[in-house]
Amino acid sequence: MTTSLITGATAGIGAAFARRLASDGHRLVLVARDTKRLDDQAAQLRRDHGVHVEVLAADLSTDDGIAAVEARLADRDRPVDVLVNNAGFGIRGTYPDAPFADELTMLKVHCEAVLRLTTAATQAMRDRGRGFVINVASVAAFVPRGTYAATKAWVVSFTQGAARDLAGSGVRLLALCPGFVRTEFHERAGMNVDGIPGWAWLDADKVVATAIRDLARGRVVSVPDLRYKVAVGLAKVAPSGAFGRVSSTAGRRFGPR
Ligand SMILES: NC(=O)c1ccc[n+]([C@@H]2O[C@H](COP(=O)([O-])OP(=O)(O)OC[C@H]3O[C@@H](n4cnc5c(N)ncnc54)[C@H](OP(=O)(O)O)[C@@H]3O)[C@@H](O)[C@H]2O)c1
Repeated sequence: MTTSLITGATAGIGAAFARRLASDGHRLVLVARDTKRLDDQAAQLRRDHGVHVEVLAADLSTDDGIAAVEARLADRDRPVDVLVNNAGFGIRGTYPDAPFADELTMLKVHCEAVLRLTTAATQAMRDRGRGFVINVASVAAFVPRGTYAATKAWVVSFTQGAARDLAGSGVRLLALCPGFVRTEFHERAGMNVDGIPGWAWLDADKVVATAIRDLARGRVVSVPDLRYKVAVGLAKVAPSGAFGRVSSTAGRRFGPR
């Protein structure tokens, strides 16, 4: 029986991963901070899909929280076959006006936690000769703007490098790079998204379906939806800084109210 551990599993993209993997018959380990929400979601998934669901309350912005999830991933008696590093958040304001403490927390959750959890998981997976890691990045990875985009660029680059280093081991990695997805993300960050056109929004369940399909096809980077594939292609060939300027303008427009 396959076991999947998902961080940030109680809302948005992480909850969509939990629904999809439960419907595929996986046993689940759900990680987030809010214990009540974790328990409610676990009960719902057990009811809907009849799978075993474990909850692990952990704050990935703390050493203790990261260590608790590392320990679960390293537990050889209860192997984890699929790790989804999804927990993340948006930052209020643009650099250098965003609160500095939030930027440091973001580095901890988006980079240090992803590095430590990927390492704990892949060490155990490599010994078993199989396993999958999905690291949720963003299309922001391809458009330099502030700490958020920089952390997501790190996630993509780290995942590509680790995938190369682990090639042939039976362990596969994927960096998932969605555009705007309707979740709690923007509201939690206090962002005004009124100006974002309807066509720009993606559905979390479809984003997850694309990720799983791309992982099965052996891809290392997944950009869901044609409109964002085109945007990422343009960002790669545009003169350096051009998209950063567009993105900065958008950041001010869609930034905090
Ligand atoms: N929505 C978008 O437009 C979009 C686009 C591209 C990429 N992404 C990325 O997708 C990922 C998921 O975002 P989302 O849109 O699904 O966000 P969301 O709806 O706000 O859900 C965030 C999840 O992460 C958990 N979480 C947040 N901080 C945490 C922490 N310190 N420790 C443990 N869990 C934590 C939350 O639960 P608790 O609060 O209970 O901890 C929640 O389950 C993020 O990495 C984000 O950067 C989002």
